[in-house]
Amino acid sequence: MEATTATNPLRTGLRMQRTPEPCTVVIFGSTGDLTHRKLVPALYNLQRERLLPPGFSIVGFARRDWDDAYFRESLRKEMEQYSRSGVQDSLWESFAEGIFFNRSSFDDPAGYQELARRLNEIDEQRGTGGNRLLYLSTPPGAYVDIIQQLGAAGLNRSPNGGWTRIIIEKPFGRDLASAQALNAEIHKVFDESQVYRIDHYLGKETVQNIMVFRFANGIFEPIWNRRYVDHVQITVAENIGVEGRGNYYERAGAMRDMVQNHLMQLLTLTAMEPPVGYDADAVRDEKVKALRAIRPIAPAEVDRYTVRSQYAGGTVNGQAVPGYLEEAGVAVDSRTESYVAIQFFIENWRWAGVPFFLRTAKRMPKRVSEIAIQFRSAPLMLFDSGPQNNIEPNVLTIKVQPDEGISLKFGSKVPGQVSQIRPVTMDFRYNASFGVESPEAYERLQLDAMLGDSTLFTRSDEVEASWSLITPIHQGWETAQALSTYEAGTWGSQAADEFIERTGRKWRRL
Ligand SMILES: NC(=O)c1ccc[n+]([C@@H]2O[C@H](COP(=O)([O-])OP(=O)(O)OC[C@H]3O[C@@H](n4cnc5c(N)ncnc54)[C@H](OP(=O)(O)O)[C@@H]3O)[C@@H](O)[C@H]2O)c1
Repeated sequence: MEATTATNPLRTGLRMQRTPEPCTVVIFGSTGDLTHRKLVPALYNLQRERLLPPGFSIVGFARRDWDDAYFRESLRKEMEQYSRSGVQDSLWESFAEGIFFNRSSFDDPAGYQELARRLNEIDEQRGTGGNRLLYLSTPPGAYVDIIQQLGAAGLNRSPNGGWTRIIIEKPFGRDLASAQALNAEIHKVFDESQVYRIDHYLGKETVQNIMVFRFANGIFEPIWNRRYVDHVQITVAENIGVEGRGNYYERAGAMRDMVQNHLMQLLTLTAMEPPVGYDADAVRDEKVKALRAIRPIAPAEVDRYTVRSQYAGGTVNGQAVPGYLEEAGVAVDSRTESYVAIQFFIENWRWAGVPFFLRTAKRMPKRVSEIAIQFRSAPLMLFDSGPQNNIEPNVLTIKVQPDEGISLKFGSKVPGQVSQIRPVTMDFRYNASFGVESPEAYERLQLDAMLGDSTLFTRSDEVEASWSLITPIHQGWETAQALSTYEAGTWGSQAADEFIERTGRKWRRL
């Protein structure tokens, strides 16, 4: 029987290559780190691949005393290091002709009037047709100010029938109440259809491939449920510490920095039901449904369902590294977590009773992000599980980074006269199969926003549903749980091992 295809207009499949309409990207916070390391190198690479429209322009907005020429020069300096394709002088020069700088503080109305004038001028001179993508790459405390100023200056709507969209960087709020308040402020000025909340994990090829893997293949979905799956482990491990960002990290911790956004995205993409089509609302409806089906962990339950820890000094990659409390910008008595593990249950027909373990940490032995689906054992074992037979459960692993790919572990007979079983893996690797370098997440996401495709961005109800699971855990942590420590360069504290072992499972050794 053939698969049904495009009778439903929503089933249009993955996005075909298209070029956006001519437009200007306005980057608020354009003298900052993200603009130089990620945003502009990504735009340059899109230009190199001829994916940007004619007349494409960038306007930077920040308070430093820079002008167009200095801004271009400052970006150019970073390109060698941060552009994945290097930088070619002639291409850069034509790209840089469309780069401008608007000097202003975020709270100065005159700066927005000047921005409006400049954008109109660019529309006339470069044919950008009133189409604007506003990118808030600023400290989160500035979001509301900028949004209100944009509204007051009429920059929330475009002249000449063009479009205006706004990308908002993470973090989006620090708890449920602040995320709701931020959504309310945004909605006073912008319609939800104009808003693109970014989580760069969704721009990663491997993360997008979770949906393709699940919904473009017939053989996995029938076993993707409680009948066959024992549990799921989602790991996002970093080997770096706070890297001089102690001040920021003290206010965030691993939970706000990684779990609320990246790990919850991986969880929802793994657990969601098939959407009715591959369009922004259909996909996000299913993600929200998955989040709403997760049983919230009440503040009084945090000791049972979560672990939080901090790294002590240790050795990573052969180098001695300080403990979290010795990092610059960290309070000597800080209780900020650099390791979190959580056990969630999803209360729906597909997943009832299947634990989803999430863990993320800094100063682990290596950098690795993956989703591992561990299947139940065979119902009846015909082979002795003695010393000669190493019978392990089947595990399907989606490797998000590095060594992007998918692998399936199963038991196999060792060649020879005796019956011996060993686990082996069947591997798919992006590099080996496709031989092309994957685009950077920020390339895909900025292009999608220019095309008006918000599938890979977080909707307001989705971000609130995620916070509604995280906030009660933070509340519980305020009073309840002990904070364990782990040596830098190890896979976590003893408390973290005991946490999963209580359920009869073990953390994967990565
Ligand atoms: N860096 C990353 O790797 C990364 C990764 C993911 C998410 N993010 C998010 O991206 C955002 C930007 O990060 P970043 O690392 O680029 O920050 P950053 O280096 O601290 O840059 C902040 C920018 O905001 C500008 N700014 C701050 N206050 C201002 C004011 N009152 N008026 C005008 N301009 C002002 C600064 O301009 P002046 O220099 O002119 O003061 C600078 O351009 C943050 O929300 C962060 O959470 C960053």
